[in-house]
Amino acid sequence: MLMRLENIEKTYRNQKHPVIQNVNLIVEKGKTTGILGKSGSGKSTIGQIMAGILKPSEGTVFFQDQALSYPFPKEVRQKIQILFQHPEISFNPRMSLLESMKEPYRFRKTLFSMEILLEELEKFGIYEEHLKRDPSSLSGGELQRLALARIMLMQPEFLVLDEPTSMLDVISQAQVILLLEKLQRERNLGYLFISHDYELCRHFCHRIYYLKDGRLKEGGEECNDE
Ligand SMILES: Nc1ncnc2c1ncn2[C@@H]1O[C@H](COP(=O)(O)OP(=O)(O)OP(=O)(O)O)[C@@H](O)[C@H]1O
Ligand SMILES: [Mg+2]
Repeated sequence: MLMRLENIEKTYRNQKHPVIQNVNLIVEKGKTTGILGKSGSGKSTIGQIMAGILKPSEGTVFFQDQALSYPFPKEVRQKIQILFQHPEISFNPRMSLLESMKEPYRFRKTLFSMEILLEELEKFGIYEEHLKRDPSSLSGGELQRLALARIMLMQPEFLVLDEPTSMLDVISQAQVILLLEKLQRERNLGYLFISHDYELCRHFCHRIYYLKDGRLKEGGEECNDE
């Protein structure tokens, strides 16, 4: 088991009622767990708890059978990364894209090499000229592929994918999905895939949960399993 949620509940500050309760969920190594649910049902809340951004009010988060405390320890923060719906959130607007791409090297205390970075970025369809441009001048698809390349430089084992393609056009969507599938195969990554697109979820996920009224139900069907 890569990651597991046990009886997770979250009540936001100044609110009376929990937005999610009794949430139990598993993600296996090399597999994708999907969460489907309407807008406001609490999908991102679950994703942010698993990414360590948000502390649950109740319950326990396990990573590789280790119960985690918040904030997550540094070595776990490196292994768990998140890709957001809006790719620009992944980049500090006051930093050049090249500076942003250097950050993972700093975090991992490894030597930066422009040559190796560019070789890596090529796999994501990103080139040197993109890095020289202002982040806001890149297309949504380019920026999301760069955001994905950036979190991959952290050498993660688990990714939270919070509707990573919902702001993109059809071609860019397919590019990102194909990249995610390839990366999963090559690096045995576990994914939490948040979506409101049933067909996409069925195509992409090995296990699907439905979120309704703050509670999670397993889909009772295993899809896309070899
Ligand atoms: N920081 C916050 N403080 C108070 N309430 C919040 C906060 N963040 C989210 N909520 C509320 O919690 C509920 C669940 O929000 P969440 O963003 O998890 O839903 P979602 O399923 O991801 O929705 P969408 O599909 O629109 O992204 C919503 O009612 C939302 O307004
Ligand atoms: Mg959301």
